[in-house]
Amino acid sequence: MPRLAGDAAPWQAVKCDVFPRESLMTSAPFPASRPRRLRRTPALRAMVRESTLTPADFIWPIFVREGTDDATPVSSMPGVSRHTVDRVGALAKEAHALGIPAICIFPYTAQEARTADCAMAWDEGNIANRAIRAIKEAVPEMAVMTDIALDPYNIDGQDGYVRDGEVVNDETVEALVRMALAQAASGADILGPSDMMDGRIGAMRTALESEGYQHVTILSYSAKYASAFYGPFRDAVGASAALKGDKTTYQMDPGNGDEALRMIARDLAEGADMVMVKPGMPYLDICRRVKDRFGVPTFAYQVSGEYAMLQAAAGNGWLNGEKVMLESLMAFKRAGCDGVLTYYAPEAARVLNG
Ligand code: PBG
Repeated sequence: MPRLAGDAAPWQAVKCDVFPRESLMTSAPFPASRPRRLRRTPALRAMVRESTLTPADFIWPIFVREGTDDATPVSSMPGVSRHTVDRVGALAKEAHALGIPAICIFPYTAQEARTADCAMAWDEGNIANRAIRAIKEAVPEMAVMTDIALDPYNIDGQDGYVRDGEVVNDETVEALVRMALAQAASGADILGPSDMMDGRIGAMRTALESEGYQHVTILSYSAKYASAFYGPFRDAVGASAALKGDKTTYQMDPGNGDEALRMIARDLAEGADMVMVKPGMPYLDICRRVKDRFGVPTFAYQVSGEYAMLQAAAGNGWLNGEKVMLESLMAFKRAGCDGVLTYYAPEAARVLNG
């Protein structure tokens, strides 16, 4: 005789209290409840999927450099190249056709072009600012995001000025504000301060308001950790050779979670429109806590080292590259993120678009 619902075996009486929400604890006992019923076909799985992934979730980081009609592969990031500025218009058209709403620009600077005063950072003619204009010209609808930090221009490879061996805060913030205004003047939609100096969001917001850039948004790298996962990026932008020491006096300690919430609260209070957690996959707990606590537009950066790990394993045939790409990106959505900065953006969009 088949056992009826309610006729529970002893193990079914074990209360499941891992879920915070009462409603999740009310399923009938086996066999009235058979969760596998909803996993049986692709159609059923699609109907009950809680998170979705679309090309609109992506911000595509690209590396730009001087020169004409060329692209140099970044060896530690298989599939990623540094593009000359004259090519970014075509990249923007490609991204737009794929449904990607935003591109984030990172400039490559050779060691010889770096200076102690970092003046190139706020030059409207620098390659990053030229790339903003080129994208806006090619695809006006594309949202263009920038990076604000001195490291691409700094002879020391640090995100701020180094004085007597220390990365100084307030003098750096003044330079970052100049950098922000030059990017806004070049047409940037989203400023991305990645420097982790104190007080920079408020200083930038005040300057943007008084200089006529009220519409420019700030996506703050609020919870940015001092991470070894940035290694390949530093190769890509030419910072590995320049960088002396590490960034532990301004980027966050990987052991801290509550501090991330304090940084987010502070940046929102100073005028950030959106916030970011970085790196991504090793910090998904932070993404979830941020979304639950603040409910603001929350992004994660799937950084260069995360991308490099997956690409290396896929390249060796140890992982299915396409599947781990999509699974890793879906994880950000499930963790509460509204979007993700990812080097996979065009490839993932192509797969998602079928
Ligand atoms: C620079 C910056 C870094 C990244 C984004 N902006 C590197 C760093 O802080 O050293 C890392 C991105 C990546 O690893 O993909 N301020």
